[in-house]
Amino acid sequence: MMVETDLIRKINKLRKERKAVIVAHNYQRPEVQDIADYVGDSLELAQISAKTEARVIVFCGVHFMAETASIIAPDKTILIPDENAGCPMANMITAKQLRELKAKHPDAVVVTYVNSSAAVKAESDYCCTSSNAVKVVNAIPKEKPIIFIPDQSLGGYTAVQSGRKLILWSGYCPTHHRIMAKDIKAQKEKHPGAKGVVHPECLEEVLNIADKVASTSGILKYCKESGAKEFIIGTEIGIIHRLKKENPGKAFVAASNLADCPNMKLNTPEKILWSLEDMAYRVTVSPDTAKKAMNSIRRMLEIG
Ligand code: 13P
Ligand code: SF4
Repeated sequence: MMVETDLIRKINKLRKERKAVIVAHNYQRPEVQDIADYVGDSLELAQISAKTEARVIVFCGVHFMAETASIIAPDKTILIPDENAGCPMANMITAKQLRELKAKHPDAVVVTYVNSSAAVKAESDYCCTSSNAVKVVNAIPKEKPIIFIPDQSLGGYTAVQSGRKLILWSGYCPTHHRIMAKDIKAQKEKHPGAKGVVHPECLEEVLNIADKVASTSGILKYCKESGAKEFIIGTEIGIIHRLKKENPGKAFVAASNLADCPNMKLNTPEKILWSLEDMAYRVTVSPDTAKKAMNSIRRMLEIG
């Protein structure tokens, strides 16, 4: 149970007055997750943004996630508590670079990971998240070449799982690439019987020795349903808060404490309050870009 401090009381009062919901990604600080109305992975938070009756969404995540919410729910006010919370992977490809890549492969269908800018999504045919990348690729006719951007790790994993040859880009997540196969092996020696559960943004050498590869919510589901009692978690360490909270009888150890995304940690309870007070920082997308980007997001949501 959460202690109702003065800060929490102020947030709750304003949340009601502004008809706002606070959503938080699974990597947010524990105190931010505990304040949120909803905690989830990228796909779940996008779906919540589409369905909520709230007028205002305080998006505790990184910029591309808030931007996606703004595309899906253009009539709502989307706020991000810290405007510097960006995702380095999303900045690893620009719309111009994608246009040049498309010119080299004019017949290819473009599948873009949600960790990308609205301008890049607007140049894409399909959007995907880590929970549905394989499903999206499998929905594309076999004879069609596919460009998969920007994450080379998720792209490589999706290529293996779907049996398709994908044209990849060299983007990657600096946080997940800090996790090494030797970290998982060292933890397995200390915790024999523990399951290694990792995110597809990890290096191939890590994916190859994992017991389970899944999105953040897939990791939560697997750990809840598994009969195992110990888990080695190969993703951003913020997820361990929710894992422990939802599974009191089980033990969770980080594969590497270096997997700490500095951008995800920029949002704090104080900044949530200031965000609601000042109605800042607003995340908007120009109508033309939003319309084009929505086509790729809609195709993803239709697939599931
Ligand atoms: P999920 O979609 O699995 O929540 O991942 C988002 C992300 O940024 C992973 O680094
Ligand atoms: Fe981006 Fe990696 Fe942070 Fe996710 S964990 S937001 S992919 S930098």
